[in-house]
Amino acid sequence: MCGIVAYVGPKDAAPILLEGLQRLEYRGYDSAGVAVVASRALKTRKVKGRVADLAAAVPARFKGTTGIGHTRWATHGVPSDVNAHPHLSSDERIAVVHNGIIENADALRQRLEGEGVKFLSETDSEVLSHLIARTVEEADSLEEAVRRALKSVVGTYGIAVVDAQRPGEVVVARLGSPIVLGIGEKEMFAASDVAALVRYTRQVVHLEDGELAVLKADGFHTFGGDARETAKQPLTVDWDTGHYDTGGYEHYLLKEISEQPDTIARTLRGRLDDRFHVAHLGGLNMDARETRSFRRVKIIGCGSAYYSGQIGAQLIEELARIPADAEPASEFRYRSPVVEADTLYVAISQSGETYDTLAAVQELKRKGGRVLGIVNTVGSAIARECDGGVYLHAGPEVSVASTKAFTSTAAAFALLALHLGRVRDLSPADGRRICEGLRALPEQIKEILTQEEHIRELAHKYATSAGMMFIGRVRGYPVAREGAQKLKEVSYVHAEAYPASELKHGPLALIGPEMPTVAIVPDDEMLDKNLTTLGEIRARSGRILMVGHRETDQADDCVIVPKNQNELDPILLSIPLQLFAYHAAVALGRDVDRPRNLAKSVTVE
Ligand code: AGP
Repeated sequence: MCGIVAYVGPKDAAPILLEGLQRLEYRGYDSAGVAVVASRALKTRKVKGRVADLAAAVPARFKGTTGIGHTRWATHGVPSDVNAHPHLSSDERIAVVHNGIIENADALRQRLEGEGVKFLSETDSEVLSHLIARTVEEADSLEEAVRRALKSVVGTYGIAVVDAQRPGEVVVARLGSPIVLGIGEKEMFAASDVAALVRYTRQVVHLEDGELAVLKADGFHTFGGDARETAKQPLTVDWDTGHYDTGGYEHYLLKEISEQPDTIARTLRGRLDDRFHVAHLGGLNMDARETRSFRRVKIIGCGSAYYSGQIGAQLIEELARIPADAEPASEFRYRSPVVEADTLYVAISQSGETYDTLAAVQELKRKGGRVLGIVNTVGSAIARECDGGVYLHAGPEVSVASTKAFTSTAAAFALLALHLGRVRDLSPADGRRICEGLRALPEQIKEILTQEEHIRELAHKYATSAGMMFIGRVRGYPVAREGAQKLKEVSYVHAEAYPASELKHGPLALIGPEMPTVAIVPDDEMLDKNLTTLGEIRARSGRILMVGHRETDQADDCVIVPKNQNELDPILLSIPLQLFAYHAAVALGRDVDRPRNLAKSVTVE
């Protein structure tokens, strides 16, 4: 949720930390802070607000070559200067930045207060600096002091710690909240996300849960929970700083919407076989016999990932004729699910770090479930936890609202459904039809993007509505859900999504001139039924914006998208809704890339 960055090396740490925080700001953005070690003392600056406010508050004399920084998304305690990280021990020797939640923070705080410790903030994180400070004198090393402190902690953490008495050293640790090390030339970095590292290095090492690392300018050592040194193989990341720039667009959200012809092409690249009309998905780690053995597919993910999973379930049922359904990972993990050997589980995550999804995967693995991951971030926790999977290759998604990862996930599901279908009963002719449909997507997306101005006008027209209803049937329903999610998330306009067929069972009571409807009306076997629903809405004086394949006078406004195969249409139908949400948010003056109360990666429960 929040962002961590750490540096140790020969250079001034503050500019590196601030630059890293800027790149992590999409993960948390209500306050920020940095601490550097200089002349065996800590220098700290913390401010409520954005990283730019912090940068303005850091004086030129803020020198030190070892340091840590943090950008916060508040969980315990309001956004404020004192609640911002780093948190210091009372003697100002230890500084800690923390992502995650310390569940027994109240009990630890009470105990420490009983021992005379004075707390400055309302955060759960502050207990860490005091706990470490209490053992650092007698421990042989900072690493040992951190390890002992973490033993008393219940909860999740990604932390970075510096000790004023040990300049030239940073200790980081991870449990449930990501930490990645960046290997430089006689310098080391750490961060909660590679975004903060790519300007300096492409060589990274992901810490596993329970691992701790000691960083010095000349290298690093990692240790498992039992304090034994672990061997780590650095990975080379292929994302560069260009992926993290707005590239001339006003917002990341618009940039990422506009990238979709390329991102879908990258998801498909090298995976379609025109000879046998199959999909090659090398990362599944399953042979044909095993692929045929599954009798059910269960898909889990959160938010937009879950909605793309609903599109995926529909694709798998249609193309592979295997019963499939999607469920929010955040619900699945808590209901003690029955895990069956002949069910294929698929976890979806852009970040690969969403805690609820990760915990659901871990629960499945514990019960012997076979789990595939459809993940964007290479080497992320969910990707590592799964038995195999499909990487999206969509490049980093920075805007809080997911767009390109959503459509790439749906395309990856089409590949998976084709793969599962072609080892079962999907005919070569249908395989060819899907392959051709997939290949057509990038050009068709370009065509939709040319309608941006028309969609912008519609967004301005409807943005001031009290609320909006989104409806769709069967394949159109997840599209409607995602459209409503996008609109509420970035514009704060209330939006509800319903199956069109359910409207008359209750929500029709809401319909009137003040509650317009966005109707997803593909040209498929549901067309007549959908048009009947539009008639019912008009009869109640409801205004209609239709997104589909043919103009209709039942609607006040239409956005027409190119027709693909029925099964693949949801991918294209989603894109006008992304542009609609974006322009509604701009029209209403919202903070498009950083909507209030949200963060990009939800690494807390
Ligand atoms: C999407 O617009 C949302 N910000 C959110 O629902 C997101 O999709 C969800 O939190 C899952 O994230 P993940 O794909 O990184 O796991």
